[in-house]
Amino acid sequence: MNDFVFYSPTKFVFGRDAEVNCGSLVKEFGGNRVLIHYGGGSVVRSGLLDRVKKSLDDSSVTWFELGGVHPNPLDDLVYTGIELCRKNNIDFILAVGGGSTIDSSKAIAAGVPYDGDFWDFYCGKAAPQQALPVGTVLTIAAAGSEGSGDSVITKKDTMAKRGASGECLRPKFSVMNPALTQTLPPYQTACGITDIMAHVFERYFTKTPDVETTDRLCEAVLLAMINEAPKVIADPNDYEARANIMWAGMVAHNNIVGSGRDQDWNSHGIEHELSALYDCAHGAGLAVIMPAWMTYVMPHGVMRFAQAAVRIWGCEMDFAHPERTAAAGIKAFRKFLASIGMPINFEQLGAKVEDIPKLVESFGIGDGKTGGFVSLGRDDIAAIYKIAAEATL
Ligand code: NZQ
Ligand code: ZN
Repeated sequence: MNDFVFYSPTKFVFGRDAEVNCGSLVKEFGGNRVLIHYGGGSVVRSGLLDRVKKSLDDSSVTWFELGGVHPNPLDDLVYTGIELCRKNNIDFILAVGGGSTIDSSKAIAAGVPYDGDFWDFYCGKAAPQQALPVGTVLTIAAAGSEGSGDSVITKKDTMAKRGASGECLRPKFSVMNPALTQTLPPYQTACGITDIMAHVFERYFTKTPDVETTDRLCEAVLLAMINEAPKVIADPNDYEARANIMWAGMVAHNNIVGSGRDQDWNSHGIEHELSALYDCAHGAGLAVIMPAWMTYVMPHGVMRFAQAAVRIWGCEMDFAHPERTAAAGIKAFRKFLASIGMPINFEQLGAKVEDIPKLVESFGIGDGKTGGFVSLGRDDIAAIYKIAAEATL
């Protein structure tokens, strides 16, 4: 196991009606003038936004609001938010929504005290060192941004989708009421489940030896998703299944399952080019890319893929041909994704094979290599897009 520091100071308030605590939580973490940030309107339609405002009013917190966060959030609204905060002396950002809203909130939070352009944090020019405190009211189990120090933003003029990380970006608190996710359409629910599983797989495929504890934690989260996903697709109001999935979304990405191990993250990078170019849901893009990445890199780690196949997908171990077991596991993953309504190839996602050179270019590694499990160059990335384009069940 590698040496590591694990520090996850977010306060999670989980359960039915948890959003009534927003006002007191903002106060607890020093907020008096709050920007409520939200997306395209689901929180207005569900009545959640009004309940959040009432909770803030009840705690005598002054609030301002900025809606309109686009899924795959864009930089232009971040600039608007930074200006709004500076003009009104806002001291706390409350994200009400999903990963996109939370990520946009984190970008605003880091941008307000920063002298330069907030995009510096996303293009690698600077690392966020300080930020306004952020709280979240989560409405979709997916990105794990409610517990992570990460944020992903797309630059509108170039459509470059890039991430920034920093401990100062971790939310101070996250309100997690599984009932809030009951209004999600099945497709969006399945996208979230796929993203959760991908966050675990990015960590599970490692070359770090002797990581049995985190291996088993990863497997537990994946098995729980395989168990809970069909329930919630069949009955969107299944509170208990929603609750299990919501907590899994946090556990999958606050790095408790990834501590002490090298991680890969190429599938995420390769996917981000798809959601930037086609504006598809991140989870749907991952459903197409992750099994393709697995297929391509499997020969570099046959025994780890065979372990996944046996422990996660219940495949029988073929000791004479472990690569067959490994391949059966990847096939089972793809079948599972299709069973919950996810696309499995370019056509189903709405992507085009002729765009592959553009996607590779935009991936932006030049002649370099990237990836923690298997280090890949641009030809490898192109080959993975090709597998993804042509995948069948
Ligand atoms: O915008 P509204 O109207 O709220 O609608 C949203 C949006 O259309 C809708 N939605 C959310 N909660 C709902 C709901 N509809 C009905 N009922 C509800 N309860 O769902 C759509 C998707 O929302 P979004 O916030 O985009 O989803 P998600 O949480 O999957 O976030 C995706 C973004 O997170 C990034 C992705 O790249 C993508 O940009 N990621 C962020 C990470 C992080 N910060 O740690 C890690 C992830 O790997 C990921 O890259
Ligand atoms: Zn993700």
